[in-house]
Amino acid sequence: METAVAISLTLFILTGLCAGQGLFPQGSVNGAEGGTAMFITNLIPPAQPFITISWTVGGANIITSTSDDSIGPGYGDRITLNKTTGSLELRNLTLADSGGYRVAITTATAETINGSTELVVYENVSDANITGPSNNLFADVSSANLTCEAAGNITTIQWMKEGQPLSAGGNILFSEENRKVSISPVKRHDSGEYVCKLTNPASSATASYRMIVNYGPESMTILGRHIAEVESFTLIYCSVQSVPPATFTWLFNGQQTGVHEAGYIIRSVSYNNSGDYRCDARNDLTGNVISVDHSLSVKDKTPPPLSPEGAAGIAVAVMLVVVAVALGLYFGLTHQRNNSTNTTETGSSHAPDTSHGPGTSLAPDTSHGPGAKGGRVYENVGPPLPPPRGSNIYNRSIKC
Ligand SMILES: *[C@@H]1O[C@H](CO)[C@@H](O)[C@H](O)[C@H]1NC(C)=O
Ligand SMILES: *[C@@H]1O[C@H](CO)[C@@H](O)[C@H](O)[C@H]1NC(C)=O
Ligand SMILES: *[C@@H]1O[C@H](CO)[C@@H](O)[C@H](O)[C@H]1NC(C)=O
Ligand SMILES: *[C@@H]1O[C@H](CO)[C@@H](O)[C@H](O)[C@H]1NC(C)=O
Ligand SMILES: *[C@@H]1O[C@H](CO)[C@@H](O)[C@H](O)[C@H]1NC(C)=O
Ligand SMILES: *[C@@H]1O[C@H](CO)[C@@H](O)[C@H](O)[C@H]1NC(C)=O
Ligand SMILES: *[C@@H]1O[C@H](CO)[C@@H](O)[C@H](O)[C@H]1NC(C)=O
Ligand SMILES: *[C@@H]1O[C@H](CO)[C@@H](O)[C@H](O)[C@H]1NC(C)=O
Repeated sequence: METAVAISLTLFILTGLCAGQGLFPQGSVNGAEGGTAMFITNLIPPAQPFITISWTVGGANIITSTSDDSIGPGYGDRITLNKTTGSLELRNLTLADSGGYRVAITTATAETINGSTELVVYENVSDANITGPSNNLFADVSSANLTCEAAGNITTIQWMKEGQPLSAGGNILFSEENRKVSISPVKRHDSGEYVCKLTNPASSATASYRMIVNYGPESMTILGRHIAEVESFTLIYCSVQSVPPATFTWLFNGQQTGVHEAGYIIRSVSYNNSGDYRCDARNDLTGNVISVDHSLSVKDKTPPPLSPEGAAGIAVAVMLVVVAVALGLYFGLTHQRNNSTNTTETGSSHAPDTSHGPGTSLAPDTSHGPGAKGGRVYENVGPPLPPPRGSNIYNRSIKC
């Protein structure tokens, strides 16, 4: 009994080896038509060379290698046998090479090692092509079918959009084993580059298709100031979402202007540029037109903004005013207030609207406020008088 178990165990191990389990990796060997297949055994080159190595396919001889080599018809210039491992390279594959391959090796110790594996030769995937709609597509209205086709043996088809895998769901449906993608209805964000990748275990091919979904114009806004200084540069810009891009028409007080750009530019504003502007945006494919109005009023120039030195000078002037007032009180002089209004104050009240920013809108108040007052206070104080202009006050105060 014990010997029987030992014998069957030995047989099991031997048949396991002889059936080729472990001699080749699991699964078939894949080759491309015209390409090369490698049948690689996991044998470690023995100390003494093998006595025979014999490769067959479907029972037919490929090569029987003993003291000399016997090569089967059609394999003469297509094979290379590695005599230390029994591995075989088969070149210039044809579909007819697909089949079951066996190798039988006799070692120097007269052991027989048999192995088998499967070769599958695939036609290369080629001439991949996506067919899609040839008509214009409109967002939320049209639907589209994209079909991916190619020559050769195809085992899988994957779709990508803008480099990301395309997945089913929502308005996207796959059919015909992923050969076809149906998008119904098309949405604006469905625009883009679609790629299908067709593969078999030995080769792959891709095709791409650019889909354009037309929509708009919509979400229109006008960017630009409502108050412009005379002689300033002014831009009114019409912003709109549209595919294809909208064509623009600008009207001024209801009259055509001949401007058809998104931006309406006035290089040097005149008083007669005050009025109502209208931007019409039209999508020539959808036929839709939308409009937005914009009013512009033109005002006088404001004086140039104050330099940083001037601003610092004013701060010093204010301090000097305080000193002067104190001096004035000390000498018991009457302090006169300046109640005169000046036109630049009115100008400065417009300053925030001119979009010059808070820096300049503050400037007129400070330069003509305490600074001017300060000048008059000093006049009352008498010599030594610093000149009323900010920069001079600053220069002298530095020397003090
Ligand atoms: C198929 O592809 C393989 C590998 O890319 C290449 O070697 C072979 O020449 C191709 N066959 C044909 C018929 O084009
Ligand atoms: C045979 O295969 C072994 C192991 O892969 C390698 O080291 C050796 O160079 C090969 N011999 C020939 C003649 O290709
Ligand atoms: C490959 O095989 C084809 C036909 O089987 C033959 O026409 C061609 O010359 C071969 N190419 C090489 C490189 O052996
Ligand atoms: C090994 O293969 C050869 C030829 O293919 C065959 O004659 C022999 O019986 C096989 N041996 C075993 C143990 O399967
Ligand atoms: C894709 O297929 C279409 C229709 O069958 C054909 O008109 C077009 O030429 C093909 N393009 C390519 C690159 O094969
Ligand atoms: C897309 O294909 C489906 C069938 O798969 C068909 O019912 C539908 O009309 C096609 N749509 C377009 C826009 O061709
Ligand atoms: C590849 O396609 C050919 C013809 O279209 C077919 O005869 C062959 O069986 C296919 N091979 C595979 C591996 O699907
Ligand atoms: C507006 O005024 C400028 C000069 O200030 C003049 O050149 C231009 O022709 C006027 N435009 C219109 C439409 O009256």
